[in-house]
Amino acid sequence: MKRLVVANWKMNFSLTDAIDCCKNISKSIMSPSKSRTIIACPSIYLSYLQGHFKDLIFASQDVTKSRYNYGEATGEISAKMIYDLGVKYSIIGHSYRRIYHNETNEIVKTKAENCINHNITPIICVGEPESVRKNNMHLQYIEKQLQESIPTSSSFILAYEPIWSIGTGNLPTILQLKEVFSLIENIIAKHVTLLYGGSVNSQNIDLIKNVNQIDGLLLGKASLNSLELKQIIENW
Ligand code: PGA
Repeated sequence: MKRLVVANWKMNFSLTDAIDCCKNISKSIMSPSKSRTIIACPSIYLSYLQGHFKDLIFASQDVTKSRYNYGEATGEISAKMIYDLGVKYSIIGHSYRRIYHNETNEIVKTKAENCINHNITPIICVGEPESVRKNNMHLQYIEKQLQESIPTSSSFILAYEPIWSIGTGNLPTILQLKEVFSLIENIIAKHVTLLYGGSVNSQNIDLIKNVNQIDGLLLGKASLNSLELKQIIENW
């Protein structure tokens, strides 16, 4: 896959703001852009945005861990449901969900498998908390996350997002990135697309470009400003 930019809108934007952002982004994607862009919008907007912006690619931010396509899982959305809308990607195991919804590696793996079973490519997130990094145990931590959360099939995208970098403005150094991405490359299949996420913005992408193992970016805050997002898409 060519260079990729994934916009994780999280629980942001009114539908009107989401439509405005998509209109702005469509223009920049129409112009020759070096990267492919996927917008992970709130699930409730997927149907509308997918129907109205045929030139854009959308993702869900999560799917249920239930093995059933339909059933009693109140409030949940199955991989089958988003597949039926034409959605091809879903973020799985974002640190917010791992921390606040108690998603273990095993749950992340189940969700990723549910996606793959419905031809949806999971964008699986891993990354260590600050305390683990401070104790210099990050490589062991990430290795365990990889071993326990990635499915046997290699049709997934992997995002490394150190928790201490998400929303903090603290970007890892090039050496720190190279160390982790080398570990990831040693553990997972070679053709898997690898993303970095955590405090990425238009000013620091040149630094990330120095790490040649990184194919793409997972953006949070920067994806909520369409000018900023356009700049990143065009320059990545
Ligand atoms: P951030 O978030 O870019 O705002 O740090 C990244 C993420 O949570 O995916």
